[in-house]
Amino acid sequence: SPLIARTVPALRRSLDNLRKRKATVALVPTMGALHDGHMSLVRLAKRRASRVVVSIFVNPTQFAPTEDFGAYPRTWKADIAKLAAEDVDLVWHPTVEAMYPEGFATRIVPEGPAHAGLEDRFRPHFFGGVATVVGKLFTQCRPDVAIFGEKDFQQLRVVTQMAGDLDLGVKVVGSRTVRERDGLAMSSRNVYLSAEERQRAATLYHAMKESAQRIRAGEAIAPAMAHSAGMIEKAGFALDYLEARHAETLAPVTSRKDGPLRILVAARLGTTRLIDNIAV
Ligand code: PAJ
Repeated sequence: SPLIARTVPALRRSLDNLRKRKATVALVPTMGALHDGHMSLVRLAKRRASRVVVSIFVNPTQFAPTEDFGAYPRTWKADIAKLAAEDVDLVWHPTVEAMYPEGFATRIVPEGPAHAGLEDRFRPHFFGGVATVVGKLFTQCRPDVAIFGEKDFQQLRVVTQMAGDLDLGVKVVGSRTVRERDGLAMSSRNVYLSAEERQRAATLYHAMKESAQRIRAGEAIAPAMAHSAGMIEKAGFALDYLEARHAETLAPVTSRKDGPLRILVAARLGTTRLIDNIAV
């Protein structure tokens, strides 16, 4: 079973022990409710370093008051069993008070990819909360490598930018999206879907694949995206955005020649908001 640390001094002591004998440390930040997507990050972490630390912290500062912080699934016992099965060395599970003690008054304000006009348009508080907590996780754990999922593509770009800009000395590595059999990207929030919504949810992925295929076949970006938007709306989603962007800078693109492209989508099915993305 992994060691579990709940305060910064306990974390420091455990890390000091782990680091003996020239060990390298990989960190996998999560909010728990672990699924096979998270576990694929853990497995990549094991290949990239001799010690693996997984953080589990449902970070209140990245949720707006209207969002699902209270309802967010918490499955501690099952999470620990999964991490034990992968021989994870240490779980960093701070209390909210350990992370944000009374009087906490500093935030990281990410720019660049955090202002690409995708998630930030619909969740303006989100990347400030993510950058602040991930900045803290990096300085608390001082990992050599940190693994993030491509599932949250803009988040991966924001965290990579922050680690470089602040000289945090952490190599941020992206890991491919793990999907259910029908193509739905695994997400802790998929449990919110009713059985009937779950049947339609994979449309998001198949619509993106359709537009990627059309763009590769030479169709212009705008009509290809319009076709996919139609598929998504016909399946009963309310679209927040569906866009092709430059895969590295997230800058808007008008033609396939504008660089490696990524299609990114966010849409709501009933009260559940899903995001996904694929390479063209
Ligand atoms: P969470 O949603 O728990 O995701 C933790 C990590 O797992 C993220 O890097 C995310 O991209 C990755 N992930 C989620 N679903 C995945 C899938 N289907 N395939 C591959 N990777 C997947 O993202 C967060 O938590 C938080 O914002 C966090 C970074 C922990 C900061 O609070």
